[in-house]
Amino acid sequence: PLIDPAPPLPALHASVGLSIFALLGSLYLIPALGPTFIRANLKGRDLLKTYDSPIPESQGLICASIYIILLILFIPYVFTESITKYHDSPQRAREGLVVDEFPHHQLAVYLSSLLSLLMATMLGFLDDVFDIRWRHKLPIPIIASIPLLIVYHSERGATDVVVPLPLRWLLGTLLHLGPLYYVYMSLLSTFCTNSINILAGINGSEVSQAVVISLSIILNDLLFLPWAVGFRIPLPLHVTDGVKVGGVWSAGMAYGSRILVERHLLSLYFMLPLLGVCLGFMYHNWYPARAFPGDTLCYVTGMAFAVVGIQAHYSKTLLLFFLPQIFNFVLSCPQLFGLVPCPRHRVPRFDPDTQLLHPSRAEFKDKRPSRLSTLVLRLYSALGLVDLAFDEKTGEIASTTNLTILNVFLLRFGPRREDSLTRVLISTQVCGSLVAFFIRYGLASLVYDG
Ligand code: UD1
Ligand code: MG
Repeated sequence: PLIDPAPPLPALHASVGLSIFALLGSLYLIPALGPTFIRANLKGRDLLKTYDSPIPESQGLICASIYIILLILFIPYVFTESITKYHDSPQRAREGLVVDEFPHHQLAVYLSSLLSLLMATMLGFLDDVFDIRWRHKLPIPIIASIPLLIVYHSERGATDVVVPLPLRWLLGTLLHLGPLYYVYMSLLSTFCTNSINILAGINGSEVSQAVVISLSIILNDLLFLPWAVGFRIPLPLHVTDGVKVGGVWSAGMAYGSRILVERHLLSLYFMLPLLGVCLGFMYHNWYPARAFPGDTLCYVTGMAFAVVGIQAHYSKTLLLFFLPQIFNFVLSCPQLFGLVPCPRHRVPRFDPDTQLLHPSRAEFKDKRPSRLSTLVLRLYSALGLVDLAFDEKTGEIASTTNLTILNVFLLRFGPRREDSLTRVLISTQVCGSLVAFFIRYGLASLVYDG
């Protein structure tokens, strides 16, 4: 009796249907519109091939357009029947809540998400056309996330974190982050958008990250849906995420589950069409690529992840699905922040004779390595993450392999073909997600009391 009514199946079916449209739409439109993009000078050369033929760039714009149009078409489905019917459940009536109200709040969540996605599309496309500088493009996703934060605030979203057991003596059970939590969420949008963009440059890399992350999110959402409501989540990563019953945090209890189900349904509605559109694009972006994603795809997919993480209140679980991106970002920091020279492209080096990829290098030419950069690079080298070359006369570092996860793979596993490197990246992303699920649902019960 405590369990929620059946899920709003018509809306879910509509969402699955639209996602199939998304897949077919990108499968068909990417090759159909490619020549138009080339005519508009939106084209790039594949850096890791021998041929020179122009490849349409910024195809993420097509994906984003299909995605956003389908999300808009979906509004009537989700807001005329399903959510209202869902709200009219006998259960809600028993709780004494208003029965026939229109879910304005859900609509606010939905529309603010769309707004953020549109801003990400615009920023990504502008970046493709104008190559915006780092310091200019970093703050824009932060501004784009303000609507999300206001909606989060309007439902008094939690801003405190449950402290892991080993740290409780120091910090107490709950850490009230207050405004800092909003800063964290706005940085999340910048991180999600840019971290995919800097793990890029080989065919299929950007979109395959998006595919694996969206699949992981979908799987995680399904765990919260009504048919899985008996599922127990012994993990209070967030106090409002569940209801504590008999010492166990459980999604299966009435009030907690109703909110949880609504949030995860919404997340599902945003992730399913994204997966569709990305799978269609991946077909054309797979080695040898006939279309390039451009920054637009990186920004839109990253923003979509930030949106669902914030709106459905699982931003910390979301970050767990970004383990390879976090690693790549931390590794890249010395180059991003100017300690080590950062060439325009850090993609691996292509050897046309063997058709194999090798780690690419960054050279200290006019600038000598500072004490700090020498220290960091020596540390990386000790960890086996870079290969250093030294100046014979001065003994200083003369060059290093570029600080990206792709170069680390090539360094550790040896030179390989481009498609094989993409497969290594995908496997790493899948392993990252498995680790994420283990941390979220397995390990956490050791670190948090139930
Ligand atoms: C980011 C990376 C850069 C990397 C580039 C590749 C950082 C700080 N920046 O820059 O190191 O070289 O992405 O995407 O890490 N391309 C290919 N094959 C592909 C995809 C892209 O050759 O599968 C090339 C094409 O020439 C394409 C260009 O990369 O035109 C796109 O680069 P762009 O997205 O503009 O680079 P950034 O995002 O600025
Ligand atoms: Mg890019």
